[in-house]
Amino acid sequence: MKGIVLAGGSGSRLYPMTASVTKQLLPIFDKPMIYYPVATLMLAGIRDILLISTPRDIERYVELFGDGSRWGLNIAYAQQPRPNGIAEAFRIGRTFLDGKPSSLILGDNLFFGSGLPQRLTAAAALQNGAHIFACRVDDPERYGVVAFDADQRPISIVEKPRLALSNWAVTGLYFYDGQASDIAADIAPSARGELEITDLNAHYLNKDCLVVERLGRGFAWLDTGTPETLMAATQFVCALETRQGIKIACLEEIALAQGFIGADDFARQAASAPGSAYGRYLKNLLGDLEIDARPISLRVVSA
Ligand code: DAU
Repeated sequence: MKGIVLAGGSGSRLYPMTASVTKQLLPIFDKPMIYYPVATLMLAGIRDILLISTPRDIERYVELFGDGSRWGLNIAYAQQPRPNGIAEAFRIGRTFLDGKPSSLILGDNLFFGSGLPQRLTAAAALQNGAHIFACRVDDPERYGVVAFDADQRPISIVEKPRLALSNWAVTGLYFYDGQASDIAADIAPSARGELEITDLNAHYLNKDCLVVERLGRGFAWLDTGTPETLMAATQFVCALETRQGIKIACLEEIALAQGFIGADDFARQAASAPGSAYGRYLKNLLGDLEIDARPISLRVVSA
């Protein structure tokens, strides 16, 4: 499966923070926002990624990620000149996707929860239809909203409804079969002038091949489009990382765990990492790895 990270838009709700810096490069606690969605794709087992951003900002991402090989990824880049809508990602990404199944994630969405990697891996095995995730929110009118029948089957999906039929918001993480670019090519702009991802999802729903998986209490889904939600995401990550001493969305750690890079690659990166908290974390992980690499008899002695 291939992945797309959509990281364009004007970030107008975060102005003036976004006057010269693209929103998805603003920090969420200790790392750029874009690390979190990239980590989510990696946890789904996805290594071929197209990063889409504005002509102004694309170079900043190239500077940050390069070709992605540091993390065992292949990262390609494409421009979205205007924010014409989320579904445009599948028009822009048509050649990259080459008719293969894909996952799209919005560059400002953060997912966290126990068992999430297993759920992502299961969704990434999709060959036919579409698979999306819904989370309960208090303000559904800000999102795509999905309504269910008495048997908990999805029956309708509406973008930013005035009167929401449920509190289940569609998150910014989507898995599609190889048809997504073809379907997106036929979508017409909505009343607000955008190619709506909700129309793509509604297409799959009407064909009865949309799975909507609900993420319950054990999961956090945060989007980071306003100063308040940006701060909330930072506080969330800070609280968890500080309490547990474990990082969320550490790309090197995930790359190693997923087998995208080997222990030697990881060791090189950790050894040359700068002295930030993130760099120290990599060095500590390297220390743990070296301990684990010792013969079992030695490990028992020092335990
Ligand atoms: O976050 C989940 C929600 O994302 C879904 O529930 C909605 O169905 C979906 O339409 C979207 O709603 P938003 O109102 O959050 O979309 P927004 O226009 O804020 O764009 C989301 C991100 O995608 C944002 O970081 C900017 C980026 N984007 C957006 C558009 C429309 C682009 O890169 N290009 C675009 O053309």
